[in-house]
Order: sequence, then structure tokens, then C-alpha cells
Amino acid sequence: MEKLKILNSIINLSWLSLLMVISMLALSFFLPEGEITDEKDTLEMTSTDNGESPIDLFSAEFKEGKKIFYSNCASCHNRNMVDDMTGPALAGVIEKWSDYPRSDLYDWIRNSQKMIQEDHPRAQEIWRDWKPVVMNNFANLTDEKIESVLVYIEKVGG
Ligand code: HEC
Repeated sequence: MEKLKILNSIINLSWLSLLMVISMLALSFFLPEGEITDEKDTLEMTSTDNGESPIDLFSAEFKEGKKIFYSNCASCHNRNMVDDMTGPALAGVIEKWSDYPRSDLYDWIRNSQKMIQEDHPRAQEIWRDWKPVVMNNFANLTDEKIESVLVYIEKVGG
């Protein structure tokens, strides 16, 4: 009789744990997948219909720029765009180069040392402040790719 009782409670326990597993599975099925950490989702949720939706922040160009920035530039330039790191903060960089054709900025990013040697005024100025730290060359970045990074920098840096 005692044996039967123990057996019974074991069976009950197994049922209980099976029930728990099933309910956890069901719960994970109904809950949204993972936490919403993606900026896009968060912002889309808070976006309003006043015509100033932040969705354009996440245009394909912005995303492309972010990808390029994170994989090529973020090791030296702060992601927040406002604090210096190994290299200067990049917020407002378009304005700083606005006395010159936009292509100068492309050229700088592709080969900064060449521009310094060619006595470009802005290149000289920034080199005076930051030498001897040399920026990497990004010879393979096309105008369009650099433009997308600049869009990203401007939107993040304000
Ligand atoms: C190895 C570190 C390093 C990397 C990687 C790097 N930079 Fe730089 N960058 C610098 C430094 C240092 C300067 C300051 C000038 C100098 O010392 O040559 C600079 C300057 C600049 C400037 C001029 C800023 C101004 O105020 O005029 C721009 C624009 C710039 N970087 C963009 C980029 C972009 C875009 C990338 C990625 C594609 C990048 N940098 C990657 C180190 C880096």
C-alpha cells in the first residue's frame, strides 16, 4: 500500500512538471520574440502621425551609413559623435568642410595624408590638432557610400 502511494506521488510529480513545460512553451509562443532592442522598433512604436515621423531616420541610406561607420570608423571615432576618442568627434563635420567642395571630404576619407601633403587648409588644420595619429585610408569607399556615412553622422550628431 505504501509503495502504491509513493508511485502515485511520483506520477503526480511527473504530470506537474510536464504541465509546467507545456505552459512555458505556450507562453513563449504567445509572447513577442525577445526584447525589443532594435532602435527601429522602439522608435516606430513611439512615432506619431504629425508628419515628422522618425522613420525617415531609418532610410536605407542611414542604415547603410551606420553599417559602414560601425565596421570602419567606430574604432577611432566615438559612436556618440560628440566626444573625441582616438580621432575627433565627427558631429558637424559637413559644416567644417563647407568652404570646400563635398568631394574634398570624400577625398579626405579615401586618403587623408595625401590631402595634408597637398596643403588643403582643413586637412592641415585638423592634422595640426591630431598628428601624429594617422587616419586609415578607405580607398574602396565610393562617393555614395561615404555620403551614406555622412548622413548617418549628421543624424546621430545632430
Ligand atoms: C585609425 C583611426 C581612425 C579610423 C579607423 C578612422 N578615422 Fe577619421 N580621423 C582619425 C584621426 C586621428 C583624425 C584627425 C586627423 C588626423 O590625425 O589625421 C580623423 C579625422 C577625420 C575627419 C575630419 C574631421 C574634421 O573635423 O575635419 C573625418 C571626416 C573622418 N576622420 C572620417 C572618418 C570616417 C568616415 C571613417 C570611417 C570610414 C574614419 N574617419 C575612420 C582617425 C581615424
